[in-house]
Amino acid sequence: TRPQVYITRRIPERAFEVLREHAEIKVWDSDLPVPREILLKEVADADGLLCLLTEKVDAELLNAAPRLKVVSNMAVGFDNIDVAECTRRGIPVGNTPGVLTEATADLTWALLLAAARRIREAIDYVREGRWITWGPMLLLGQDVYGATIGIIGMGRIGTAVARRAKGFNMRILYHDVRRNEAAEAELGAVFVDMDTLLRESDFITIHTDLNPSTYRLINREAFAKMKPTAVLVNAARGPIVDTEALYEALKEGRIFAAALDVTDPEPLPADHPLLQLPNCMVVPHIGSATVTTRNRMAEIAALNVLAGLRGERLPYCVNPEVYERAAG
Ligand code: GLV
Ligand code: GLV
Repeated sequence: TRPQVYITRRIPERAFEVLREHAEIKVWDSDLPVPREILLKEVADADGLLCLLTEKVDAELLNAAPRLKVVSNMAVGFDNIDVAECTRRGIPVGNTPGVLTEATADLTWALLLAAARRIREAIDYVREGRWITWGPMLLLGQDVYGATIGIIGMGRIGTAVARRAKGFNMRILYHDVRRNEAAEAELGAVFVDMDTLLRESDFITIHTDLNPSTYRLINREAFAKMKPTAVLVNAARGPIVDTEALYEALKEGRIFAAALDVTDPEPLPADHPLLQLPNCMVVPHIGSATVTTRNRMAEIAALNVLAGLRGERLPYCVNPEVYERAAG
């Protein structure tokens, strides 16, 4: 009998093309997340799980899925998954790095430019019929060209953001848990401590993963160090920024603006105070949302499932130690 795969949402067709011949596929065929109690039932006979960052994969789920051989997240981030618990049970976990790097860097830049030049306010201004003349003092923003960018997390996405910054003739600072010598050599990026990055950057962009050491990394103390003209862009994970501290900083004009692709809580309710602030722009976690990128993510997620079902090494595995364990 063919292995069973459960897919937790309507995703690009490419995933089905990859898996169809090799597995029985069951899908939560909706644009909304599968309810937890249904997910827990559906995984009971699943050999493979293709899930999204909206599904919590924890001990409870794994207990409900005794046959599970592979967990494949259609995302690069995997903070929704208890990876240690998967490893302990010998289950490899896959993600989709690489293919979404450029799309996410593009979105970061869309947010950076829009926040610097107050595009959200400017669009509202026209729509509200307030545009009656050219104004020498109207909607003045911040220069991007030649400014200093501070990149927190110089991985694939951070480096792709820096590459774009080079075209804007920017001074590039970065902070990470490790040096990125390739980015230093290619882009002239300068490694600095967090304090220096916060104090000297005109634009601060976040591209780290979410883990205990990055949780609320951007807190009240961090905002206090930023320039009053600073623009913050978060295209990583919401909880890296302390939402309450961000609200205060924006409200009191301690920084110039913020643009967020991710929030805490996420989704952000429509009546959240952050959305009342003119200098805050929020988009609904669309960093990788291009047709081509989502097709590639679906394909890689499916290839990870397929490898897992066959007992082969996943092409993109976040817990390769699972194989040492099995061998050892
Ligand atoms: C999206 O946020 C991802 O991690 O791919
Ligand atoms: C994730 O893709 C990263 O390395 O930035």
